[in-house]
Amino acid sequence: MPPTDRFAPPPSLLTGKRIVLGVTGGIAAYKAADHASYLAQQGVDLRVVMTAAATRFVGPMTFEAITRQPVYRDVFDGWAGEEAGHVTLAASADAVIVAPATANTIARMAQGMVDDMLTATLLATQAPIIVAPAMEHHMWHHPATRANIELLRSRGVTIVEPESGHLASGANGDGRLTSRDRIVAAVREQLARGGPLAGRKVVVSAGGTHEAIDPVRFIGNRSSGQMGVALADAAFDAGADVVSVVGPTVTVPPMVGRVERCESAREMSALVQEETGDADVLIMAAAVADFRPESAVASKIKKGPGDDAPIVRLTRNPDILATVKRDGLFLVGFAAETDDLVANSQAKLQAKALDMLVANDAVATIGSANSQATLLFANGDVIQLPLLAKAELARVIVHQLIPALPEAERKDA
Ligand SMILES: Cc1cc2nc3c(=O)[nH]c(=O)nc-3n(C[C@H](O)[C@H](O)[C@H](O)COP(=O)(O)O)c2cc1C
Repeated sequence: MPPTDRFAPPPSLLTGKRIVLGVTGGIAAYKAADHASYLAQQGVDLRVVMTAAATRFVGPMTFEAITRQPVYRDVFDGWAGEEAGHVTLAASADAVIVAPATANTIARMAQGMVDDMLTATLLATQAPIIVAPAMEHHMWHHPATRANIELLRSRGVTIVEPESGHLASGANGDGRLTSRDRIVAAVREQLARGGPLAGRKVVVSAGGTHEAIDPVRFIGNRSSGQMGVALADAAFDAGADVVSVVGPTVTVPPMVGRVERCESAREMSALVQEETGDADVLIMAAAVADFRPESAVASKIKKGPGDDAPIVRLTRNPDILATVKRDGLFLVGFAAETDDLVANSQAKLQAKALDMLVANDAVATIGSANSQATLLFANGDVIQLPLLAKAELARVIVHQLIPALPEAERKDA
């Protein structure tokens, strides 16, 4: 058996990436501090550029303390020695984010103006640019802003649309800076391009299912869906086209790829069958109920005086993995066992003709943020992993399945 340290989790997509965060002079500038803090915690090599107006809203010191780097403010700074100011910064970037982006900066970008450090960096960079506008409702809907946004889009700039809601003016309307998660998802989409799963469709199921007893009651399980969500994230970050089929227990669905929601095992089965028709990989991380009430009652079961407690007869649910099996679809199953983990999992791998099986201790894993898993492969390989956070385990699983995919199936390579 290989030593476990060989399977140390690969770094996350954001770790070590040089990202330039441009902050402009809107009221939402304070939110950029949270974005900067989050990115720094993800291991991003973050450089912040502020416009003069932005410094009226938030002090540069905030960003300097978060990034431990000087904040770029003046296009005439940073020209000593090897440094070529905005040119060096622009060339070193893996991605440039402008959040919040004012109507004014968007207009200057659209015109190709270079009258400060941020616009100079934006014009000089070859890296993907992600713009998250934030402004008052009528500014956002003004024909000038609409035209500028469309022009930027046509040049390949990613626009992360603002949301509707409470605005700084006190009114409700469009123009509110979107969530940090949506901005980060847009950055990840750009950074993941050309990854090892580019051109591949990966379907991931996540969470438990609800099996109706009557219109208000169901049989469910304790699965949180964290593992499936982490797998969708990891596959997306490896460049895959990801579809997540998530059950009702998933409270925080993946922010990336496409998400399809379902309630029952039979609904999940139908969705998985539909989505795997043209997929390369199916990862069944969902805790699908094995049984459901034989017939769901149409009206709420009443507790009348003297009534006996109802007897709910169960019947078997479809085995999703068995129904989708076909050549060219790489199947990854999960086994949550309470006894004889490896022996029971080997039997499941063979019985279901899986390509890969992730076996873990049911009690220790379900609902926990960590998991100690064993990976079993169709060729007999077994890899015992150390205790890992589910996000780390997801990256190991995805990176272990990439070389196991048949060469002939690779669409791009
Ligand atoms: C209190 C206040 C709030 C503002 N909020 C916004 C805003 O949310 N969005 C926007 O586009 N402009 C906003 N502005 C206007 C910009 O600050 C102004 O257009 C400035 O020139 C932008 O400069 P910059 O794009 O170089 O950062 C606001 C101005 C003030 C005084």
